Amino acid sequence: MEVVIVDSPQAGAELVGGGIAALLNSNPYSVLGLATGSTPLPVYDDLARRYDAGEVSFARARGFALDEYVGLPADHPESYRAVLDREIVGRVDFPTGAVQTPDGWSADPAAACLAYDAAIAAAGGIDLQLLGVGTDGHIGFNEPTSSLASPTRIKTLTEQTREDNARFFDDDISQVPHHVLTQGIGTILRARHLVLLAWGGNKAQAVAATVEGPVTGMVPSSALQLHPHATVVVDEPAAEALTLSDYYRHVFSNKPDWQGL
Ligand code: F6R
Repeated sequence: MEVVIVDSPQAGAELVGGGIAALLNSNPYSVLGLATGSTPLPVYDDLARRYDAGEVSFARARGFALDEYVGLPADHPESYRAVLDREIVGRVDFPTGAVQTPDGWSADPAAACLAYDAAIAAAGGIDLQLLGVGTDGHIGFNEPTSSLASPTRIKTLTEQTREDNARFFDDDISQVPHHVLTQGIGTILRARHLVLLAWGGNKAQAVAATVEGPVTGMVPSSALQLHPHATVVVDEPAAEALTLSDYYRHVFSNKPDWQGL
């Protein structure tokens, strides 16, 4: 696992946005795994800026969201389908229908989850999966004690996650759904490159447990230690509980240019 400590979320976004642009420029048919929440927003701003500058195109790319709420009205502005349309899909040249989300409105959620994993496989798998991390170590919405081999499935959010996400729902936890469809940890681990981002001191414990703790279903993000190509990009406050931060800085400052993101 590579750990990159950056000065600010903007610096991290530039690094990751540059890596995604390089990927698309070398393979325009790349398949991107797209996270929601607040963490990836600076990356989406960076990608929209690069698109406006003519540096990158998404015209042949495809995307898959990590997760979707269950039970929101179809036109709710905080559904992850709506969030992705607003924050990235509608700002660049992704063709209509090129970015899918799990069908949180399906009458048969189990079938929708099976279909989602099948659609990812049919697309050739995900080349680069963006991830945020919850304060409890969730990735996607795989809450603690999730199976490290899990497929896409329905999950029940912890009350901590519902409290954390109430800020997107008028600070009213009663509006935050209890259920989600989420790519499983097994699904996430099949992506060819995992890029986990974390900003701010409230993620410091989760970041330390992800990188330096034991691999355990109690910290779903620790599953990144099982992946052959995982990059963790954190700002200084999110890095503050890491014990080997001097080593991570040393590695990054000696990184050969040809390695890319
Ligand atoms: C979002 C997702 C979640 C978030 C996590 C952090 O698609 O799957 O794992 O990445 O809850 O949320 P933020 O970024 O809002 O702190």
